[in-house]
Amino acid sequence: MKVLEIEGNKPLSGTINIGGAKNSAVALIPACILGNNLTTLTNVPDITDINVLEEILNYLGVKVSRASQSIIIDPREMKNNLIPDDLSCKLRASYYFMASLLAKYKKVEMYFPGGCQIGSRPIDQTLKIFRKMGATVKEEDCLFRISAKKLVGCDVTLDMPSVGATVNGIIAATLCEGVMTIRNAAREPEIEDVADMLNKMGAKIEGAGTSTVKITGVKELDGCFHSVIPDRIEAGTYIILGCLTGDYLHINNVNPEHIKNLTDKLIECGADIVINEDNVIANISNNLTSTNIETKGYPGFATDLQQPFVTLLTQATGKSEVEETIYENRYMNVPYLNKMGANIDVNKRHATVLGKTDLTGCEVEATDLRAGASLLLAGLKAKGTTKIYHADYILRGYEDIIEKLTNIGAKISIYEE
Ligand code: EPU
Repeated sequence: MKVLEIEGNKPLSGTINIGGAKNSAVALIPACILGNNLTTLTNVPDITDINVLEEILNYLGVKVSRASQSIIIDPREMKNNLIPDDLSCKLRASYYFMASLLAKYKKVEMYFPGGCQIGSRPIDQTLKIFRKMGATVKEEDCLFRISAKKLVGCDVTLDMPSVGATVNGIIAATLCEGVMTIRNAAREPEIEDVADMLNKMGAKIEGAGTSTVKITGVKELDGCFHSVIPDRIEAGTYIILGCLTGDYLHINNVNPEHIKNLTDKLIECGADIVINEDNVIANISNNLTSTNIETKGYPGFATDLQQPFVTLLTQATGKSEVEETIYENRYMNVPYLNKMGANIDVNKRHATVLGKTDLTGCEVEATDLRAGASLLLAGLKAKGTTKIYHADYILRGYEDIIEKLTNIGAKISIYEE
């Protein structure tokens, strides 16, 4: 187990460069194998989730060469192997291979995907799309056997705007017969990024990033060259950090449009931020005031930023109300924030934060990726030493975190225990 140790309450100044978006990269990589040629991805974040995808590619006989932030994927000798359960259970995004292998071979066998335990996270919407396109799905002990004589475009309306189902629907339909329409689609920027790359490979996808996506099937796809969009959740996390303890902290390589909902809320709380074309400058504010948030699919307030934002709310004067509408289990950071001195009360999907309260370092546990980020921010703000156990979760989604934070003046280390 990895432990992150932080000596908090230091002013943080300098520059943080934001990496490529985790939730784009983890979809782009499985989508690359649809091509009949090499694809080069740049601005790929150096995080452990990408290492797992690389292992899966190796398992499928896909040649991979990786150098710092780029990856070249050569699927020309790929085999439709069963991905072992101990790999697919490591991350949610493993189920994007379900769609790409089904699209390419009309047959796939795969186990239920993994991912942070932040809710029940079923995959029924993806299976609904596959079935409607003509596939047969058999499930036995978490193993899905999916096959189709052919995949035919159809008109499908999702029960909720699921990111994963929208990506899977797009991937599955790129090589289908006819035209596929996905309604009530998720609108996250990462979905647009996937569609942009697939269109470069020769796909015909329109409307990605809106709630209606239309895909006209093509016979085959080529490779391409594509750069991953900046990670809006990493950016948001560091902007919040700047508001907590920054000394004119520069967060570079940001698309401000992608985090508008966060920056609007920060401004509402009285945060001292300057938003430029591709960067944000965040400075400590000792006079933050409370606000209310409700998580929603994009362009609403991102559920992935809810936990880091709750850390900020502990430093805002007054009563803040938080409603988590996407995941039923995304307050696992709260008992630890309270242990550090916060005053937060959780009732099912609702949390009430009473601020502001001083935070003091202590031993806490990261229960999932963004809970870990929330505790990391709290530790950097708190007086004294914070030890975050199970910090492996944080490394799933934040690249070079020790280096990035050390460069701006944080006292932080990571070790095995
Ligand atoms: N849902 C269903 N059935 C489905 C699919 C989803 O009921 O078939 C429900 C989920 O249980 C959840 C809601 O719909 O309550 C939204 O789920 P969605 O499918 O949109 O989420 P996801 O694709 O599993 C991605 C990100 C998450 C992020 C969510 C929401 C990846 C790999 N993961 O998950 O990221 O929270 O979208 O924006 O892209 C993270 O980065 O920490 C993270 C968890």
